[in-house]
Amino acid sequence: MSRLIRHDERSPLRIDEEDINERYGDVAICRCGLSETFPFCDGSHRNTHDEPDDGVFVYENGDRQRVERIVTADESENG
Ligand code: FES
Repeated sequence: MSRLIRHDERSPLRIDEEDINERYGDVAICRCGLSETFPFCDGSHRNTHDEPDDGVFVYENGDRQRVERIVTADESENG
C-alpha cells in the first residue's frame, strides 16, 4: 500500500534548541516529503529549490517529473 501526499514546503522545520538530541545534534524535521530518513531531514529538499511555483512534481530515483493531472478511481480529476 502506498499513498500520494502533497508537500508544499521546501525546507525543514528546525526544532527548538532545548529539544535537540545530544546524540544527533541539530535535528530538523522533513517538510518536503523527499527525505530517505523521514521524519528527519537529510538535505533532499535542496532538489526542490528550483521547482517552478506553478507546478506539481513527483520524484523518482532523484529525477523530477511534472504532474500533468491526477485521475482517481472514480475518474474525478485533481490538480
Ligand atoms: S525538508 Fe525534506 S529533506 Fe529536508
